[in-house]
Amino acid sequence: MADPIEKAKETAARKAVEDHFDPAARYIGIGSGSTIVFVVQAIKDRNEDLSRIRFVPTGYQSRQVIVKAGLQPIHFDSLPSGVLLDVAFDGADEVDEDLNCIKGGGACLYQEKLVATHARKFICVADQRKLQSRLLSKWDRIPIEVEPLAAHSVLERLAALGSQEAAIRSGAIEKSGPIKTDQDNFIVDAKFKHPLLPTPTEAEGDVQGAKEDRQWAVETLAKEIKQIEGVLSVGLFCGENGLEAEKAGKSAGGQKP
Ligand code: A5P
Repeated sequence: MADPIEKAKETAARKAVEDHFDPAARYIGIGSGSTIVFVVQAIKDRNEDLSRIRFVPTGYQSRQVIVKAGLQPIHFDSLPSGVLLDVAFDGADEVDEDLNCIKGGGACLYQEKLVATHARKFICVADQRKLQSRLLSKWDRIPIEVEPLAAHSVLERLAALGSQEAAIRSGAIEKSGPIKTDQDNFIVDAKFKHPLLPTPTEAEGDVQGAKEDRQWAVETLAKEIKQIEGVLSVGLFCGENGLEAEKAGKSAGGQKP
């Protein structure tokens, strides 16, 4: 494989599967995008008996990857009640050192979060281009899945929340008008500067305090966007604690003044 980026995706995928794939698993989430294709290939290449495992896709593309690999898909809503996925693998658009991710660059979002929050472990597979010390460094927009009827009021609320620029994603070559998700919703890309950068605690040299402040800021922003009427899902996947909080139905980022 000549392309170094494709090679890096493959290397990351193989490592993720080596460390986190368990052939005894019952349900495995498979995310969307180009990196996940390498994850599925790495699972296949183990040459283990995969017949007991059901793979939960996060959208149309993801389901096709599963089916084409000869693996058995299962719809999220066909999972037995109360059962968690053993693990969910997915790509990301940006990841920070606290394992917060931005997702939704490929216009899959709601199902990705649904699957991630119903998995015991969420494994984000990303090549080195995606890693930034702070979220919203290179990828400066947060994808947000929005119910179309509410899209314009959501844009106004995002501006009130401090988004410098927010727009309904459009421009697919083959189609004019907004891009639609698998749920027939719009994706709004909202530009935000990294919240709390630099933090007052950082200026004081309090490394742990600064880390907590940043985490709180990211989780609070995710929570505030999610509370806007018409928002179905926010493309901020907040580290382990944030996803744990979402799993438990609790709101993250509620502690600080
Ligand atoms: C889909 O909307 C995204 O969340 C993808 O998982 C993300 O964009 C990563 O895609 P690549 O693996 O193609 O970079």
